Amino acid sequence: MSTRRPRRSAPASGAGTGALASSAAPGTLLDLEVGPVAHGGFCVARTGGRVVFVRHALPGERVRARVTDASHDRYWRADAVEILTAAPGRVEPPCPHAGPGACGGCDWQHADLATQRAGKAAVVAESLRRFAGLDVPVVVEGPPPVGSAGTGADTGTGVGADPGAGGLGWRTRMRFAVTEDGGIGLRASRSHLVLATPDCRIAHPLLLDAVAGRRFPGADAVEVAVSPATRQVAVAVRPGPGPDGPPGVRVVEVVGERRFAVGPEVFWQVHPAAPEVLVDAVRTALRPRPGETALDLYAGAGLFAAFLAADVGPRGRVVAMESDAAAVAAAADNLADLPQVSLRGVRVTPATVRGVVGGRSSDESGTSRGGVDVAVLDPPRAGAGPAVMAALLAHHPRAVAYVACDPVALGRDLAAASTAGYELVSLRVFDLFPMTHHVECVALLRPRVTELPASGK
Ligand SMILES: C[S@@+](CC[C@H](N)C(=O)[O-])C[C@H]1O[C@@H](n2cnc3c(N)ncnc32)[C@H](O)[C@@H]1O
Repeated sequence: MSTRRPRRSAPASGAGTGALASSAAPGTLLDLEVGPVAHGGFCVARTGGRVVFVRHALPGERVRARVTDASHDRYWRADAVEILTAAPGRVEPPCPHAGPGACGGCDWQHADLATQRAGKAAVVAESLRRFAGLDVPVVVEGPPPVGSAGTGADTGTGVGADPGAGGLGWRTRMRFAVTEDGGIGLRASRSHLVLATPDCRIAHPLLLDAVAGRRFPGADAVEVAVSPATRQVAVAVRPGPGPDGPPGVRVVEVVGERRFAVGPEVFWQVHPAAPEVLVDAVRTALRPRPGETALDLYAGAGLFAAFLAADVGPRGRVVAMESDAAAVAAAADNLADLPQVSLRGVRVTPATVRGVVGGRSSDESGTSRGGVDVAVLDPPRAGAGPAVMAALLAHHPRAVAYVACDPVALGRDLAAASTAGYELVSLRVFDLFPMTHHVECVALLRPRVTELPASGK
């Protein structure tokens, strides 16, 4: 597969080859005025009353775009292949594999980081407006420098001695595709095609070193996890030994004072700065007090539960719920020194959340409330869903931190929270996935304070 970058051309190039089309086949060229960024790594344009989702473009640009999918009545998909008028935030992609028809891993290699973050802020704001009816100013915070823990050697890939800088060299976990002859590859956008190269510019140098020159004949995929802090590497070949097979190799991650052993098959944040950033945001939002009961839904390898346990102390309690067997096994080891944590290997459902704690607790004023004082939930991309939100909020926690990797699911779940009497108090948004369209939100919810109507007396 060849990498074809959008060509920049002089403005006002005349009629060109683009069409103002009302019907199109893949390959048709369209000249488009590009509108706002939408969720998913593309911008919105219109032609002949139809929406076109355009990749490799930026808001405000005029582009010539090649239709890649015209199978839907209401929208088409297209790739910008020629930039007729460039936006100020456009840059030469630092990765040679970014561009139309090439690697699908990154969406915004052609934008500077400020433009990427402005686009993500717009997407989060629009999702909350549309799905939760909330008008919230959104600022996207960049990750802090990874520091000495993330420092690796210059690999000659354009990733310097400071992985993470410039939005490159940060990704510590990857699932590579495997080519027919066993080579490491990257997947093309919306395609099963494999680009036969291991050269990923957002991958951490340690991760690239782990697969350099290796072949995996017969494998479907190869999962790699590296820990910049301990420089450990774990490689898992898929298909693996199966659910009853031996546990895979884990890497030890370091977050503050704590260590977490996590294999490549278990969820762990992929940016080296992410665990610390998110733990700090969650603790700052919830401010758990000694003796309180905290809930950690979708607990993974135990990241938030460990720190909440320290905050509520030995007299407090943390209930952590996670359904993936490998994650539960990792969390059991990672939380073994914290007897105040009760780890449940169950699916988060309305029923399991409703039954999560028995009895009632009380606050400093002696007011009785549900058995949960604070909660963090960090669901997969689909979100928790309105029924789980309702079950959680029926415990009347005083504060809930919702960690969301999908702003649309967050918007929908905030609408459910509002129905249950909770309001959004603060929102932090982090760019923990530079070059991609992904973004991480931490939303703090509290019970809505309703003012009593003024007395007529
Ligand atoms: C985004 S990860 C968060 C993990 C952890 N909080 C962290 O930051 O490392 C979501 C986790 O939810 C788990 N999960 C997905 N669906 C679930 C469900 N219905 N019930 C319980 N856990 C679920 C996944 O296995 C994964 O570990």
